[in-house]
Amino acid sequence: MDGEVVLLTGASEGIGRALAHQLSARGARLMLVARNRERLDSLVAELPSPAFAYPLDLTELDQLPKLVEAALAQFGRLDRLILNAGITMWSTVEALTDLSVLERVMRVNYLATAHLAHAALPALKQSRGHIAVVSSLTGLTGVPTRSGYCASKHAVMGFFDALRIELRGSGVDVTVLCPDFVVTQTHKRAMGADGQPLGQTPMQESKIMTAEQCARAMVRAIEKRQRLWLGSFRGRLGRWLKLLAPGLIDGIAARAIARRH
Ligand SMILES: NC(=O)c1ccc[n+]([C@@H]2O[C@H](COP(=O)([O-])OP(=O)(O)OC[C@H]3O[C@@H](n4cnc5c(N)ncnc54)[C@H](OP(=O)(O)O)[C@@H]3O)[C@@H](O)[C@H]2O)c1
Repeated sequence: MDGEVVLLTGASEGIGRALAHQLSARGARLMLVARNRERLDSLVAELPSPAFAYPLDLTELDQLPKLVEAALAQFGRLDRLILNAGITMWSTVEALTDLSVLERVMRVNYLATAHLAHAALPALKQSRGHIAVVSSLTGLTGVPTRSGYCASKHAVMGFFDALRIELRGSGVDVTVLCPDFVVTQTHKRAMGADGQPLGQTPMQESKIMTAEQCARAMVRAIEKRQRLWLGSFRGRLGRWLKLLAPGLIDGIAARAIARRH
């Protein structure tokens, strides 16, 4: 990855921030995107290789082509697009009082991601580059209290699986990354039934992966341009169980939420 130009979204916190550290340690030159300018600036100051902060709300879809142009203006090329920014929710469907939660999660997780991939395609085709998109195990199966989030990640899976086929022969590869639960800000920030952030994590954080562990495994999959990365044993097992005994995987998903890890 030495010298590669990487555009990374959701870089200010969590998995994205940990990814930025690990990519930078490998010599990648980074264009870092998120809304929080201060967090991005502090990250840039921590990194060993050249990096630039580009504060942007990714739901401003018409601004996304400018983001790609800024990366090209800064570095002259684009080798990898890592689509990591995301938000989540935590409510049963029945308890939802603010249904805009469903729209908000879809706009960040799916629409902004799809639009940015579209904007970056010409540059990536030129460099025979790579798209890595962060989905989730919830992109593969239903998880209670996460309906809108599951829907957005299923949309991501479908979009990027289709794009991968369209890009056959172009030299551009597509990797879909599906973490299990990870300790990050996302759980505290999750929208509750009324659309407001929960404010505190509902997870048992001591029992789930750290952002650094997750990012390290993801970088290995990104380097190999792996097709799909599943972040846990239960995630890998779940792929088969879903076909063979779907009731079992429903039970595993229900238990994961009930036990909060
Ligand atoms: N943590 C988990 O358990 C888990 C599990 C599976 C998958 N994932 C996925 O992993 C990815 C990273 O999540 P995380 O857990 O690291 O969450 P996080 O700590 O909350 O970080 C999310 C990042 O996305 C950025 N972001 C959110 N909305 C944005 C917007 N409208 N415009 C620009 N940037 C935005 C945030 O930055 P600003 O607030 O500064 O904008 C932040 O940098 C997400 O796609 C998530 O769905 C997480």
